[in-house]
Amino acid sequence: MSKRNYTRREFVKQNSMAGLGAAVAMGVAPSILANCATDTGIPAILGGEKIRTKGWPVWPMWDKTIDEEPVLKVLRSGVWSRAGVVTEFEKKWAETVGARRCLAIVNGTNSLIAAMVQLGIGGGDEVLVPPYTFIATVIAILQTGAMPVFVDTDPETFQIDHNKIEAKITPRTKAILPVHILGLPADMIKIMAIAKKHNLLVVEDACQAWLAEIDHKKMGTFGNAGCFSFQNSKNIPIGEGGAIVSDDDEFMDRCYSYHNYGNPYGSYSGAVASETEMAGTKIRMTEYQAAIGLAQLTRLEAQTTIRNDNAGYLRSQIKSIPGILPYKLNDKVTRAAFHLFPFRYKKEEFAGLSRDAFLKALDAEGIPCSGGYTPLNKMAYLKNVMKTKNFQLMYPAEMLDYNKYMEQNQCPANDQLCNEAVWFTQNMLLGEKSDMDDIALAIERIHKNASKIKSKE
Ligand SMILES: Cc1ncc(COP(=O)(O)O)c(C=O)c1O
Repeated sequence: MSKRNYTRREFVKQNSMAGLGAAVAMGVAPSILANCATDTGIPAILGGEKIRTKGWPVWPMWDKTIDEEPVLKVLRSGVWSRAGVVTEFEKKWAETVGARRCLAIVNGTNSLIAAMVQLGIGGGDEVLVPPYTFIATVIAILQTGAMPVFVDTDPETFQIDHNKIEAKITPRTKAILPVHILGLPADMIKIMAIAKKHNLLVVEDACQAWLAEIDHKKMGTFGNAGCFSFQNSKNIPIGEGGAIVSDDDEFMDRCYSYHNYGNPYGSYSGAVASETEMAGTKIRMTEYQAAIGLAQLTRLEAQTTIRNDNAGYLRSQIKSIPGILPYKLNDKVTRAAFHLFPFRYKKEEFAGLSRDAFLKALDAEGIPCSGGYTPLNKMAYLKNVMKTKNFQLMYPAEMLDYNKYMEQNQCPANDQLCNEAVWFTQNMLLGEKSDMDDIALAIERIHKNASKIKSKE
């Protein structure tokens, strides 16, 4: 090996060919050795050349040659409202996740609302939920009339902290709504045990967790119901779309009825007269949505494997950089969905460089990234919902005391996580290992030059 300074990628390549055998023989972890590589590059944010000039896999993916024909067939048939293609999609999704039944819905938000309403969750009830989620999870609870009660987040897994659930249970608690956020499974074994002990319902927000598993059982199949989203950014993108899965036939028949105005299970689109049996709504998936979904489903298995492989590799490459704390998976996780790849950023190890400045520096290197969610337990919608007529009628005044609610719903670990999280999107995990090396190299470069970047802040 010559004496010139190797870039990380060159170093890893070199090691993977010749030196790696020796390193392994010496019992030295290759990723630690790789971290010793000297990258002499000036950070792009300080005027140097960016590490990555090529883009990332484009999302959503669409294969003209095989995906368009079935969608065109639906369009040309003129049958666009719910019919056979939606039923086919439901069968496939139920099979894929290992549930008895699936009902396709317009989106994930309404899947959550429908599932909760049909499990009898409503005004006067409390639902335990993590604050580290997309707003739709909490909005869905409020739409049923129930009150969200926030359970703090475990910053290592980014999931609901199951050890803090029981302390939040009151006589009003009706359900737990765990969210497998970022596509990483919440600990459903522990959560189901708590639910059983306290006789609580469980609705899983698996809107980001397609094919994720604990002990080879898919997320969405542990609780009374599991809800999915197929919105455009999701790992199965339909534009908009959602689904409820469950093994409970009676519940699923009720969900069907609810999603079709309240007309009985099996009622079809376009029926003008039916023995309407409940005050339902209309949240049916269309045929062309289902046709797109069926096309997307053909890629999901292979893409999930690639995301898992690349996420594991990237994790191994960045975990020894001081100040970078990648996600931890619960012990029993056999597969994750990796809708996002998360880590925590500790600015103390980066010469005090703020997370925002770190994100900007990473972006400048050609590595798109985000700081993720902000605390949902502190936003104006909560105060405003308490002023609505329905909430005023459904709850005693002391439960609508906003300051008291805020006090009871503090989540300090989540506040800190929201200040420290960094995310990469799932499409970035669909490329080559060398793409992951680019990410790792960029982080290392920023780490090495953190004080210089900070001085220019
Ligand atoms: C965790 C989570 N819950 C619920 C939803 C709502 O799904 P949708 O956007 O399909 O309504 C989303 C997606 O946006 C989500 O990420």
